[in-house]
Amino acid sequence: MQKILSFLVDRQQTALDELCQFLRIASVSADSAYAPQMQECAAWVKQALLDAGLSATIYPTPGHPIVYGERLRDPSLPTVLIYGHYDVQPPDPLNLWTTPAFEPQVRDGKLFARGATDDKGQLFTHLKAIQAWMQVNGELPLNVKVLIEGEEECGGVHLDHFLETHRDLLRADVAVISDTSQYGDGIPAITCGLRGIVAAEVRLKGPGKDLHSGIYGGSIANPVNALTRMCGTLVGPDGRISIPGFYDDVVELTPVEREEYSRLPFSERDFLQEVGSSAVFGEAGWSTLERRTARPTCDINGVSGGYAGEGPKTIIPSRALAKITCRLVPRMNPTKILDALEAFLKEQCPPGIEFEFRRFHGCEAFVFDPTSDWLAAARRAIQTAFGQPPVLFREGGSIPVVLSFKQILGIDTLLLGWGRNSDNLHSPDEHIHLQDFHRGTLASACLWDELSRVAPTRTT
Ligand code: BES
Ligand code: MN
Ligand code: MN
Repeated sequence: MQKILSFLVDRQQTALDELCQFLRIASVSADSAYAPQMQECAAWVKQALLDAGLSATIYPTPGHPIVYGERLRDPSLPTVLIYGHYDVQPPDPLNLWTTPAFEPQVRDGKLFARGATDDKGQLFTHLKAIQAWMQVNGELPLNVKVLIEGEEECGGVHLDHFLETHRDLLRADVAVISDTSQYGDGIPAITCGLRGIVAAEVRLKGPGKDLHSGIYGGSIANPVNALTRMCGTLVGPDGRISIPGFYDDVVELTPVEREEYSRLPFSERDFLQEVGSSAVFGEAGWSTLERRTARPTCDINGVSGGYAGEGPKTIIPSRALAKITCRLVPRMNPTKILDALEAFLKEQCPPGIEFEFRRFHGCEAFVFDPTSDWLAAARRAIQTAFGQPPVLFREGGSIPVVLSFKQILGIDTLLLGWGRNSDNLHSPDEHIHLQDFHRGTLASACLWDELSRVAPTRTT
């Protein structure tokens, strides 16, 4: 093991240079203008799998390609399925980046670029660790399958179909994903729960065209007035969501879990500094950590309609639109929540306004079995690489594939995040700390060793 770790330490600069190449490809999945870069990036990942000593195949989909590779050593050894996503969020707003999003740059021990932490930098640690095993040992200690997709950030639908049609190819004992965060600086975490999500869009259509608000004002309903009034009723001043039935199926944290939460180090000052706000806000009766990871939410992600340019403009706009997401906790049902949200908004729609409700992706929340042998092995690997045991903690974000792995492939996922929530995911100046990238790579190398000694409990 020591030889492999020194091999990795000696080659840190090369690994970083290669990651920079990966980050230079603008693989924005949500915007069709970047389709050529998506192809280019899939090809880059394929080559990276080959360089690591794995087989590699690109599977085209009606959307963006999936890249798959493997090295199967011995069927009696455990098989791990590593997942990552090579697509990234759009880089906008461009003017808020200190250096351009697709021109990676190191400053203050951090590598800045879109995708640096979400998820190119994190997934690349696994490829470098596999490569080190292959080059130093000539072989891996277990069977490895690697699945890297390109539609995670746009709520793509093609991966589930791929899972359903490639069950044999993907058969494994456990999945590993590095696409979450450490608990804090130097406090590694194993993420033991994720929130689910539903996403929707409300479109209101009023008059057939923008109207003079002096001539017509007061005589017909204004869609922007209607939309803002509707949206304004979603969350009360106490942070409680007002949609009838919203909390019906919510599983609350147990007293033991709340006790564990309260023992985690948390500084409200540091938290406010991280987000750039002056005060916390949320549902009464719950701590910030609880609100952020174990309570459901309803957020308006954006509104548009009417005139928002310079100076006044006196119109009754013809249309208005809002994008809304809810984060879900265990037992909440995505369809039921969307139905309740739609009914709640529709009921408030005034006469003369056409109401349209569009539904996007959704997935349930997920919590993990904290007692599994896989998890214990991951804990040891992280302890070795980070010099600190990981805390077990739920995260507020969503990774729908985790549920698909459970439902379609029947396997659990180890969520081992090397990054930090303060790395500006989905935001300008996204980065990864070089230290996190390097110790993540070491943890990954140790992980294959630790996991190889767990006895697989195969059902098939
Ligand atoms: N890597 C994130 C999810 C994440 C980040 C979880 C940090 C926990 C901590 C992932 O790429 C992501 O952005 N997921 C989306 C899912 C959505 C598009 C269905 C999310 O959570 O908004
Ligand atoms: Mn991600
Ligand atoms: Mn993301």
